Amino acid sequence: MTWMLTGGAGYIGAHVLRALQASGRQVVVVDDLSTGHAEVVPEGVPFVRADVRDTDTLARVMTEHGVVGVVHLAAKKAVGESVEQPLRYYRENVDGVLALAEAMVDAGVSRIVYSSSAAVYGAVDVDLVTEELPTQPVSPYGETKLIGEWVFRDAAVAHGFAVTALRYFNVAGAGSDDLGDSAVFNLIPMVMRAHARGDRPQIFGADYPTPDGTCIRDYIHVADLADAHVAAAAALETGAPGFTSYNIGRGEGSSVREVIASVAAAIGTDLHAEVVGRRPGDPAVLVASADRAAAELGWTATRDLDAMTGSAWSAFRARSHG
Ligand code: WQD
Repeated sequence: MTWMLTGGAGYIGAHVLRALQASGRQVVVVDDLSTGHAEVVPEGVPFVRADVRDTDTLARVMTEHGVVGVVHLAAKKAVGESVEQPLRYYRENVDGVLALAEAMVDAGVSRIVYSSSAAVYGAVDVDLVTEELPTQPVSPYGETKLIGEWVFRDAAVAHGFAVTALRYFNVAGAGSDDLGDSAVFNLIPMVMRAHARGDRPQIFGADYPTPDGTCIRDYIHVADLADAHVAAAAALETGAPGFTSYNIGRGEGSSVREVIASVAAAIGTDLHAEVVGRRPGDPAVLVASADRAAAELGWTATRDLDAMTGSAWSAFRARSHG
């Protein structure tokens, strides 16, 4: 079985690629290398450098490689940037989905695992987010991810697509030292970077209505996330047409202070964080109910916060010294 992986040269893509291979599947990677790195695509894996909006190339790759399904990761994903450059986010993320869906129709491919995001929920006011919660994204990024879900949901009805949307919560960690996340704006990379510079990590607000006053998130190890894609692909191979969304998290929240303490333990030092003002748009608590993925995909996360911060720090050091 061959799966086409868009964005396969990125941080998450590189992990999904390896998990699909480990499950015995063949993979063909499409990536424009705008943020990805060709080096993370293992030797022997066909790699096509192309824009995900290039319908003809996508259709040709699917036909030439006898692709049975697509994992669609290629997208822009910085929330803050999406507020500053909404048109670019709509252009790249929404056009990417449309071009891919059209190419799938052209090539007669109907299975898709779509990277969605907890950002589709927006600012929620519940302890655990279930997939039934109304989607009310509060950033252009979240809006484009939700529009992507709609496109594939409608294509499921009209074209018989079998669609699994995975709504990622806070992805962190590394499956190996060569696959770390170089994203600048997420909490764990920010804390490690501050430490490396000799600066104090910053806490964006400690006056939230949470036990220690800092925001709570559901951090999910990228290797667990990759396994969720394999479970989704396997289910689609034998499943019927339709659309289902799944939260991909651990169902367990960690506060910013707890994350910083875990990073400090991984480094083996004390980190004296400095509390600064709130970052606009941050909900106090965002934790997944991952029950649907457990029940229907047979997937649950197995790696804890310390495994995430430990592997993230190990990869960070390897990159700094490499
Ligand atoms: C986590 C917490 C910050 C940096 C975003 C997207 C989400 C998903 C993951 C793609 C927040 C706090 C951060 C720092 C801090 N992206 N923080 N000091 O905002 O929960 O989620 O990335 O799909 O859709 O919204 O992640 O890592 O930026 O922040 O105190 O230096 O850490 O305020 O509470 P976020 P994050």
